[in-house]
Amino acid sequence: MNITVLTFDSLDSTNTEALKQARLGADEGLCIVAGEQTAGRGRHGRTWVSQKDAGLYFSIVLRPKINTKFLPVITLMTGVVVHDTLQDFGLKPDIKWVNDVLIKEKKISGILAETTETNDGIAVVVGIGINLKSSNFPPEIADIATSLESETKVAATGNLAESLTKYLTYFYEILRSENGPAEIINEWRRRSSYFSGKAVRVVLENETITGVTEGLEPNGALRIRRENGELAIIQAGDVEQLRSEL
Ligand code: BTN
Repeated sequence: MNITVLTFDSLDSTNTEALKQARLGADEGLCIVAGEQTAGRGRHGRTWVSQKDAGLYFSIVLRPKINTKFLPVITLMTGVVVHDTLQDFGLKPDIKWVNDVLIKEKKISGILAETTETNDGIAVVVGIGINLKSSNFPPEIADIATSLESETKVAATGNLAESLTKYLTYFYEILRSENGPAEIINEWRRRSSYFSGKAVRVVLENETITGVTEGLEPNGALRIRRENGELAIIQAGDVEQLRSEL
């Protein structure tokens, strides 16, 4: 994959720009980086707070030629990429299914993958937000989020995007190889304490599931063994760690 990086001072959302460029025919490997986002998006329609120079706001266009049932594995792959990038900064990250990267249980990075139809087939835009500074966190996230500056005492990030593109290129190659999705899930397993044996709760639209994690399905869905012995397969949702209930 050839990487091209386009940098903007300000955008509504790097994902929106990357989706637009994908529909205009951009090759995979096009990366969009912005100094701030005025309408940064998180998962489930949430806002991603994106003040100027307080975070890395990064999106990449991919055109994966993989079976569409494995598309969710792209999110897991990106979690692995962010994990290894932050590890290069001396941190010890964990990945909470499906795509939150944590440092000491506080969120430092989120990933939002979105797809669009283009004349050249389906394109996937993967957006990565990494908190660089904590100083302007809004009160609702101050206790549950952290930043590179808080964890390393430096906010210098000249090579953060470079490191991301290096690992994206490496793991995307693996994803596209024979048995690629299974290999990515194996890489994810090695980096996430949530893969198995973690007591969790998942709040879904119509029910709340509690139990203990028991690995991932081949498409990346989370397996949870419920207290009554049944296995629940979670395709999407927010996972919370349970501390004392189980
Ligand atoms: C999450 O909810 O955890 C996902 C957050 C993803 C934020 C990134 S910042 C760069 C890209 N552009 C966006 O609008 N969102 C993603």
